[in-house]
Amino acid sequence: MIEHQPAAGWVAVEDFLSDVVVRPDSALKRAVAAAAEAGMPPIEVTANAGKLLKLLVQLSGARRVLEIGTLAGFSTIWMARGLPEDGRLVTCEYLPKHAQVARANLNDAGLGHKVDIRVGAALETLRELEAEGAEPFDFVFIDADKENNPQYLDWAIRLGRPGTTVVMDNVVWEGAVLDPTLDPVNAPGIISALQMMGEDPRLDGTVIQTVGSKGWDGFALAVVR
Ligand code: SAH
Ligand code: DHB
Ligand code: MG
Repeated sequence: MIEHQPAAGWVAVEDFLSDVVVRPDSALKRAVAAAAEAGMPPIEVTANAGKLLKLLVQLSGARRVLEIGTLAGFSTIWMARGLPEDGRLVTCEYLPKHAQVARANLNDAGLGHKVDIRVGAALETLRELEAEGAEPFDFVFIDADKENNPQYLDWAIRLGRPGTTVVMDNVVWEGAVLDPTLDPVNAPGIISALQMMGEDPRLDGTVIQTVGSKGWDGFALAVVR
């Protein structure tokens, strides 16, 4: 991870927009607090981005959402709130401790019945989902280890259908996409996934660059053709 040094003005404006427009409720605030108490890194999406995920799930009419990278379930809560009552979300998490905190947060938010947390390396879980003959996912959020982003993008297409929405977090990575030496572990996977979004005929995408409490980053959005 590259150190974040967000400009004070960007963070103040983000807080203003969050307080005035998005207004995260107590369940979301408790989820962030529980993650901090458990010593987990504060790398969940911002509330404003979480609300965007919820609205995108809702606008796409998704009934089945796949998330890669659960952490404490903050983005999961947002997306589950965009689903209809009979909608379902599968979320992949490598660390059992993270999955345990996420499970408690989702239950606390009254969303436990909608969410299946699969513990293990996501690439393994994705193979299992395919082997199980899982129904196609309508919406996929990729937010785990950045090295595997190209594989995750390929899996999003394989487990999706024409029209599936794909969102990928952290695609600017403090500008390391232009200078991979800043993070030789993560930057190459981010860059390859962006190239795939531009070149792969199965995808139609764009990226919005972001700044604020989580530093300088970007949110990619694509539709499976
Ligand atoms: N989507 C979350 C943040 C996810 S942070 C939110 O916005 O609230 C990234 C998460 O991916 C971490 O919890 C990390 O443990 C998990 N992760 C990292 N590598 C993984 C892998 N190979 N398979 C599954 N999860 C992984
Ligand atoms: C990291 C991961 C994320 O998904 C994120 O939004 C920010 C940082 C990380 O692994 O450092
Ligand atoms: Mg992220």
